[in-house]
Amino acid sequence: FVIHGAAMFHTSLYLADMRSFLDMAAERVPKRGELTISERVEEIRLDEVVYQYPGTEEPAVDGVSLTLHRGEILAIVGENGSGKSTLAKLITGILLADKGRVLWDSTDLADTRPDSVWSRTALVPQNFACWPLRARENITLGQPKTFDDGPVWAAVDAVGMRKAVEKLPKQLDTLLAKELFGGAELSGGQWQRLACGRALYRQTPLLILDEPTSQMDPRGEHQIFLEIKRIAAERMTIVVTHQLENTRLADRILVMRDGRIIEQGRYDELAYGSGLFAELLALAKDR
Ligand SMILES: Nc1ncnc2c1ncn2[C@@H]1O[C@H](COP(=O)(O)OP(=O)(O)O)[C@@H](O)[C@H]1O
Ligand SMILES: [Mg+2]
Repeated sequence: FVIHGAAMFHTSLYLADMRSFLDMAAERVPKRGELTISERVEEIRLDEVVYQYPGTEEPAVDGVSLTLHRGEILAIVGENGSGKSTLAKLITGILLADKGRVLWDSTDLADTRPDSVWSRTALVPQNFACWPLRARENITLGQPKTFDDGPVWAAVDAVGMRKAVEKLPKQLDTLLAKELFGGAELSGGQWQRLACGRALYRQTPLLILDEPTSQMDPRGEHQIFLEIKRIAAERMTIVVTHQLENTRLADRILVMRDGRIIEQGRYDELAYGSGLFAELLALAKDR
């Protein structure tokens, strides 16, 4: 009893630290405006966007302009550190541009309430969360509670996880944390599929997948890309990938280097050109 009491006291000191940190963070967050984004988004436009992480020498994104329309699939490719993930964070207002503007249907994200942007965004970040919760919550987390498993299974199906989920000891009710009693563990590729399922479940006007298939087998990857294509008409889709073959399904490919867009076009235009895309494609075939 004394040991646990001491542990609780000890931990409560950290809770106070956490609270003062959160208070401080709330004050430091740059103030944004009160504008909101409409339910249906037709266009996202970036206007000479520059972003530099604090304490770094060079901008991570350095003067990017682009326009994305509803129904379009955009692929972003480029070597590590070329600014792809940073661009995704700027488009979704996780980061605000130092210079230039990001406009959703002519509403500047700098003046917009972040929750109105994020509720219209589904983002699978490169480092997504593997929640130590049930399989169901790993699909529905952040969305209103539902007692209907239909849409959850639809998302599971869309990413080809039905068989794997059915094999779990308690299906959707299985805890996905091996360290907990009764928990099960998924493989890296299965987690990635589930993270994609979580994004698809949200059904938002903007879907961004940042290297979603890096640990998947070819079948899983193919399935995800077919699904993206199937639902593309309803939304704007951005896929960051190193699997250059998969960029065939994109309406447009952006090639990034050092925070800039150095090439853009359709697969056929870039693959038979003489730029970085053709070079990366040759390297991939050489392997
Ligand atoms: N949180 C961060 N703090 C400081 N620098 C960062 C941070 N995240 C990324 N960078 C830097 O920004 C540049 C672009 O990174 P990133 O957008 O993650 O590239 P990519 O996704 O194309 O690999 C890199 O030089 C990287 O080191
Ligand atoms: Mg990245």
